[in-house]
Amino acid sequence: MKKILVLNGPNLNLLGVREPEIYGRQTYAALLEQIDAWAKELGLAVECYQSNHEGDLVDRIQAAYGVFDGIVINPAAYTHTSVAILDALKAVGLPAAEVHLSDVNAREKFRHISYAGRACAAHFIGLGFDGYREALAWHAARSDG
Ligand code: DQA
Repeated sequence: MKKILVLNGPNLNLLGVREPEIYGRQTYAALLEQIDAWAKELGLAVECYQSNHEGDLVDRIQAAYGVFDGIVINPAAYTHTSVAILDALKAVGLPAAEVHLSDVNAREKFRHISYAGRACAAHFIGLGFDGYREALAWHAARSDG
């Protein structure tokens, strides 16, 4: 069974409370439940981790090397700033999918740049929670391991 690490960046723990007109009213706990259900359907073993700290996310990406078969990552605000997360993804070389709940390309200009996205082979942007399902399905369908 493929093992997939799902990483979420800062403020995603506040889903449901945080700018609901952009991110919806469903909570982070609800997202985790959905991810679990999708993982079962797709036959994946999934571990989820959220952090508000850039270095924590880098540590988790590094620790995934040799343990996980792929990564789903929504780096949140660090998407647009973090070369460290980009470098960590490149360093471990695991197949990675980028997810954003909102359509970052239709928002402020500073959200149009994605550093982490440069190390991701698939991108699911502006699909809300379904983006995570699509990203997991992409991993499930991958034939490279
Ligand atoms: C986000 C988009 C980012 O620009 C923002 O900083 C977030 C969430 C999204 O999922 O739409 O925190 O990654």
